[in-house]
Amino acid sequence: MNNEHFETRCIHGDLAVALRDEKRAISFPIYQTASFSHIQTGHNESGFDYSRESNPTRQRLEEIVSSLEGAVGTTAFSSGMAAVSACFELFSPGDHMICSEDLYGGVIRLHNLISVKNGIQIDYVDTTDLSAVLNAIRPETKAIYVETPGNPMMEITDLRAGARIAREHGLLLIVDNTFLSPYFQNPLELGADIVVHSGSKFLSGHNDTIAGFASAKDQAIADKIRLISKTTGGVLPPFDSWLVMRGIKTLPIRMEQQQKNAQKIARWLQEQKKVEKVIYPGLKDHPGYEVNAGQTRGAGSMISFRVDCADTALRMLQKVKIVTFAESLGGTESLLTYPALQTHPDVPAETREHLGITDTLLRLSVGIENADDIISDLKQALE
Ligand SMILES: Cc1ncc(COP(=O)(O)O)c(C=O)c1O
Repeated sequence: MNNEHFETRCIHGDLAVALRDEKRAISFPIYQTASFSHIQTGHNESGFDYSRESNPTRQRLEEIVSSLEGAVGTTAFSSGMAAVSACFELFSPGDHMICSEDLYGGVIRLHNLISVKNGIQIDYVDTTDLSAVLNAIRPETKAIYVETPGNPMMEITDLRAGARIAREHGLLLIVDNTFLSPYFQNPLELGADIVVHSGSKFLSGHNDTIAGFASAKDQAIADKIRLISKTTGGVLPPFDSWLVMRGIKTLPIRMEQQQKNAQKIARWLQEQKKVEKVIYPGLKDHPGYEVNAGQTRGAGSMISFRVDCADTALRMLQKVKIVTFAESLGGTESLLTYPALQTHPDVPAETREHLGITDTLLRLSVGIENADDIISDLKQALE
């Protein structure tokens, strides 16, 4: 990584390696092409062959994400799930993984539908409890997979301690950094081996594209992930690469404004009679507050909260006007999600119950609208 500050790297990438447009366009061009021509055999002037393998627009974006995450290499995928799947492809039949139990439901579906069939075993453990992680390690364990903050219960895992355990037992530590983005958290610097992102969220930031990233600290792992992407083909198209690149330019100011709004809204929610619990790592009563503060530069803008009954939750979803009842997160628009039905329906009912993903739980992704307007909207929806 070079010496420029984070905000500068969001705009220009790593100046030492940045791919520049030969016409010196300020906005990097969209190379909407499937293939690249050659003058004669044995020569590849442009360095590009075929856009499944590599494409200049995608490469420029990958370099920016590497710069922001402190990675040696990043591969951009057509979705966050494609990036997670590529990481799971690093393992072979008989291998075992330990995953956070507070996890995006799609990853649990990936395990149940695909990984089990491929002979990979997964144990879900409470990764906030490091003794539970240690107890789950077996001779065939190959990786620890963590979301912190977890989706949707905002559980915080100590990444330095997780990395220590992974190192001592020869395991890979894979961290989903979607909820905080590299603006607030850099797992590779804390000892993780791979960072994954749903680029559909904070990185692109405008609820207008689907993308994913896997960034690695080690060249051999980065190369393996790139080969998996070239082989399985779930790559990010040029136009979507450009959209995410444009989104990243404003990542720092969006993250700051969203967090500022979230802090105000979390405190307001705490005072509401019909709200029984507010789960936000930026509140001092969050059990992971200290750990989160010690490994990040912020608590982000995702808030889960529990209301008094299912009826209140359903009415809120129907009545919100500025906040939108929709699945997804991390964009400029505030979204209210019902995890039990939207993000975690494929998770077995008893697991949902155990985690607290019940019919009274709502998840709010706070956008960049005026915080007072969001609060007025939530207030009328709660009445
Ligand atoms: C934490 C987390 N990781 C991964 C994903 C999957 O990303 P995508 O929807 O881009 O495939 C999601 C989607 O909501 C998510 O919330």
